[in-house]
Amino acid sequence: MPDKNRLRRAVLTGTGTYLPEKIVTNADMALQVDTSDDWITERTGIKQRHFAAPHETAAFMGAEAGRRALEAAGMAPEQLGAIIVGTSTPDQAFPSTAVHVQAALGATNAYGFDIAAACSGFIFGLSVADAMIRSGQVESVLVIGSEVYSRILNFADRGTCVLFGDGAGAVLLQARDVEKDGAGLLSTHLHSDGRLAEILYVDGAVGQPDKPGHLVMNGREVFRHAVTLLSGAVNEALAANSLTAADIDWLVPHQANKRIIDGVGKKLGLPPERVVVTVDKHANTSAASIPLALAAAVADGRIKPGQIVLLEALGGGLTWGSALLRL
Ligand code: ACO
Repeated sequence: MPDKNRLRRAVLTGTGTYLPEKIVTNADMALQVDTSDDWITERTGIKQRHFAAPHETAAFMGAEAGRRALEAAGMAPEQLGAIIVGTSTPDQAFPSTAVHVQAALGATNAYGFDIAAACSGFIFGLSVADAMIRSGQVESVLVIGSEVYSRILNFADRGTCVLFGDGAGAVLLQARDVEKDGAGLLSTHLHSDGRLAEILYVDGAVGQPDKPGHLVMNGREVFRHAVTLLSGAVNEALAANSLTAADIDWLVPHQANKRIIDGVGKKLGLPPERVVVTVDKHANTSAASIPLALAAAVADGRIKPGQIVLLEALGGGLTWGSALLRL
């Protein structure tokens, strides 16, 4: 007889990151673009970003982050069930970045696929992985966000090129039978609104003639929607779990912009010391930003076992969502 007090949940058992070696400070950016450290810092909180070398592709960085997450959990690659990569800068149109990661890791018994939800890719990936684990389809999923936005930035547009960076972050989720108030993903909440596609997009793709594509953004419009939509998704996660902001130990938001992060934290009534901020160190790394921030706060001991962590992201689509997790 199954124990009714125990649930099958996706439990986070390891995190890993990879950031390219090359660091580009705001002062470095000002050498090639008409901008300044003051402007970037004041508007975004960004101080530096990492830019990938030619060999540092989404698959390469994703595999490195994934390898570190597996090592942290003590899992051999061939034990892994599935790999999901959130990316909007894949190595190729196909095959997926995830199968390149699979080959690099030697995860011979896994299957892999990519998620295209721009900056929300990690949250969307977590949600799919959660459903796969809860349904009993797999025992473990590596969820990775890996991005090389430096390859799609328009360096003639100072309003966007200073905002983004490259990197990868990964988490390992494993099926566990836990008590109702035990560890694991508690819920995920996903949204999109294609009517807002034109405020943040890439103006090309491999499917379009002679148009590899550059990122285009109406920053003011994105900002206007971001705090409202993200606050909605965060409140949805709290309501679904009968929790209030006081129950949240950490908010780990998508690291796009310090002003958006502060806006959501303030609306939630969460003190800044319970919000994890890493955007100063790596700028907006899109789908990689949440696992990068989460891994940093786990590694330095801020996030501890048993604590409740709220994740949120918004990106091109628009897509947005939240996830609630007990470590
Ligand atoms: N350096 C110096 N000046 C600049 C720069 C720059 N890098 N970029 C723009 N400016 C100038 C503009 O030309 C303009 O000058 P003008 O007044 O002489 O015309 C002035 O600064 C103000 O420009 P705005 O675009 O109105 O600046 P704003 O205050 O809106 O800040 C920003 C721009 C930072 C992009 C802001 O709109 C924002 O934070 N938007 C949110 C977008 C975001 O974070 N997107 C990330 C992707 S989506 C996501 O991940 C959530």
